Amino acid sequence: MSHAVTCTAPVNIAVIKYWGKRDEELILPINSSLSGTLSQDQLHARTSVMARADFASDAIWLNGKQESIENPRLQNCLREIRKLAAAKQTHQQGAPLPTDKVHICSVNNFPTAAGLASSAAGYACLVYALAQLYKVGDSLAEVTKLARVGSGSACRSIYGGWVRWVMGEAADGSDSIAEQVVDEHHWPEIEVLILVVSDHKKTTSSTAGMQTTVETSSLVKHRADKVVPQRMEDIQNAIRARDFETFGRITMQDSNQFHAVCLDTYPPITYLNDVSRGIIDMLTKYNAHKGKIQAAYTFDAGPNAVIYLPRENVNEVVNLVRHFFPPAVGAEAAFVRGFRDVPAAPVDAATLQAINRSVFADSLKYVMHTRVGSGPQVLSNDADCLLDASGNPRL
Ligand code: DP6
Repeated sequence: MSHAVTCTAPVNIAVIKYWGKRDEELILPINSSLSGTLSQDQLHARTSVMARADFASDAIWLNGKQESIENPRLQNCLREIRKLAAAKQTHQQGAPLPTDKVHICSVNNFPTAAGLASSAAGYACLVYALAQLYKVGDSLAEVTKLARVGSGSACRSIYGGWVRWVMGEAADGSDSIAEQVVDEHHWPEIEVLILVVSDHKKTTSSTAGMQTTVETSSLVKHRADKVVPQRMEDIQNAIRARDFETFGRITMQDSNQFHAVCLDTYPPITYLNDVSRGIIDMLTKYNAHKGKIQAAYTFDAGPNAVIYLPRENVNEVVNLVRHFFPPAVGAEAAFVRGFRDVPAAPVDAATLQAINRSVFADSLKYVMHTRVGSGPQVLSNDADCLLDASGNPRL
């Protein structure tokens, strides 16, 4: 007898960054964090899981390629789900036996090489699908804990809208869970631009980078103990009140502090490059010229910028990007992608004059326009399954 489930899960982008663990194995953070979940219309992972007693072993295929199932993070997720299923005896309700083997097949609808946060969506999707398969998905709080042991930031992709990961205090991680602050309908005016920077050099992985930070940075302790707790309070209040001025300021300050902490690491870690710094400069001058925060940048462990901004500013900001970071000649057509057409139009002379910086052509691959969206979904149509009846990836 075979059981199969297919799910999709979203990417999330933190505005209060998770950086540093107090427990490497259980993935327990040194500070709480908060993110927006991005719409799955533009970016998502899709994962099918199938369990059968007669599979020879567990197996995984990622974006069409078989990968090692021995990956310790993956093993942790599988072990924890099976432990929970065994404790709850869910095979008596028709779930697979904890001893059955599983085949896992996962694809992203966006290029992994683009350096967009793919591990969060991937682990969230895997764990969400396995939790359905083993019938242990009733409590989403439990599912966030299972996702957390795959990749810390993945726990926040279990919900839509605005999500906090509460760091918790317990040594066993039982209170380190993600929770929804408000759903995706609370603040629909907020949209998102992802500026994908060309020329990606291989950077330090988040896992390795944050470990070195905790070992060597004195600034990160100050950040975790003294700065983040207040920011968590303030940004949640700003989101609840739809106060973009406060939200935007905290978002940019927290990104800046995260990258300052990276530089305080020894040896130092630099994720931002000249293009990233150019985007920061452009938006800083733009906001100053307008006398209020119009658009808020944030950067993760790489050079790509993510901009949160109210809908009314999207056209102007996209056209500023087209002006100061234009695509190569001939690449204009697919430069801005997303859920709504943003017509090209000149930006007014006073704004350009206030920004007053040189043009950096062909420095961005493309701009993805998206918004805040929903949490993981189950796809119930058999045609959506990525595995065929015998458990091999469909071509
Ligand atoms: C900069 O979740 O990728 O994106 O827990 O080691 O898998 P691991 O790290 P990961 O770190 C994400 C770091 C970040 C900030 C954030 O998403 O909060």
